[in-house]
Amino acid sequence: MNTFAYRDGHYFAENVAVRQIADVVGTPFYCYSRAAIEARYDAIAGALKEFDALVCYAVKANSNQALIGLLAARGAGADVVSEGEMRRALAAGIPASKIVYSGVAKTVREIEFALQQDIRQFNVESEQELRVISAAAVRLNRIAHVAFRINPNVDAGTHEKISTGKAENKFGIAIEYARRAYDEARALPGIEVRGVDLHIGSQIMNLAPFEAAFSRIAELVEDLRRAGHTISTIDLGGGLGINYDRQNDKAPGIDDYAKIVRKTVGHLDCRIIVEPGRWLVGNAGVLVSSVIYTKTNGATKFLIIDAAMNDFLRPSMYNAYHSIVGEQQTDAAQVLYDIVGPVCETGDTFARKRQLPEQDAGDLVVIEGAGAYGSVMASTYNTRPLIPEVMVDGDEFRVIRQRPDYDSMIALDIPWDAAG
Ligand code: LLP
Repeated sequence: MNTFAYRDGHYFAENVAVRQIADVVGTPFYCYSRAAIEARYDAIAGALKEFDALVCYAVKANSNQALIGLLAARGAGADVVSEGEMRRALAAGIPASKIVYSGVAKTVREIEFALQQDIRQFNVESEQELRVISAAAVRLNRIAHVAFRINPNVDAGTHEKISTGKAENKFGIAIEYARRAYDEARALPGIEVRGVDLHIGSQIMNLAPFEAAFSRIAELVEDLRRAGHTISTIDLGGGLGINYDRQNDKAPGIDDYAKIVRKTVGHLDCRIIVEPGRWLVGNAGVLVSSVIYTKTNGATKFLIIDAAMNDFLRPSMYNAYHSIVGEQQTDAAQVLYDIVGPVCETGDTFARKRQLPEQDAGDLVVIEGAGAYGSVMASTYNTRPLIPEVMVDGDEFRVIRQRPDYDSMIALDIPWDAAG
């Protein structure tokens, strides 16, 4: 199913022309396809069925209530990294019994909140954190179910800013120290060990690093069991990459990923948890923007659009490639554009030397693959209001987040005299 495609020369999301949405909500806006999200969830849940896998959606990828709600209705759990995300997951209907909490440095307040909700599992990042969780559990008379996040020292082969499984990264407990951490956990009150956890990075386009990391984890599980620890769950994290460039990218298939899971940890008779974010929602969303101006400076032709780096940060932050297409399929001359936003920084660039049919002020362009790490990473830099989000379902679309008005943005500040 291609949920974003041209029909009669215009760009559609399912059965709705994005131009029609733009006329109602104005640009720029994020547009998601309900069918695309549901199809991805069903595909991963189906591929991992034999492991009785719990698919815990990594809420950080896109935390809109409408998206989490769709996944909750299909049985998904959630992987959260903050109290805020936990509250979002709970509010959208994910039961606490399906929430795993993976924050890198959980505060006492956050830990207490999680204990009060009785979440499924804390993915513990250090021995110090374990002691804080134990003390909080004793204070609140609760049991914390824990897994240690193990850093398997594997290079995920992805962008350095989103690689998390190498020894020098800040994440998890080095695999050499794992035994010591599990021994300590066994002795601490308020703690019950459930399993092991890892997450080696994001946008991983090759299965080999997963295979290497999962194999190391399997060996560790066997070691721990020999030492008398009960390990009943393995949380394999997220990180599976997706195609951003339709012509050149070749993301691994979900069935091949499932084969790696079977081969590496399938014999351990553990409940498997996965934490996909991008894989579920990345290609289920696009960003629709209007051309404000075009201009030519020397050899460079600029397409200046009304979306900017504050709305969608991935190209500036990671030099990420996103396909960008015109809303109209035309046979106008092809032009190589530098596609930029209106923010006062040269980094506010979505693409350089990108070929598009010639565009004019008022035309719409669509940035694809914007469903994950798009709206959630937005800011109001340059006092630009957060942009609306829309979800399409068949012939229907609904605004699932409104564009705030300027007054409400400014009203968050308190003038000095009023602050006294
Ligand atoms: N689990 C943990 C513990 C994570 O830290 C992450 C992502 C995930 C799961 C989900 O990973 P995914 O399946 O989405 O790859 N802003 C960056 C991506 C940061 C990913 C951070 N952790 C980007 O736009 O590429």
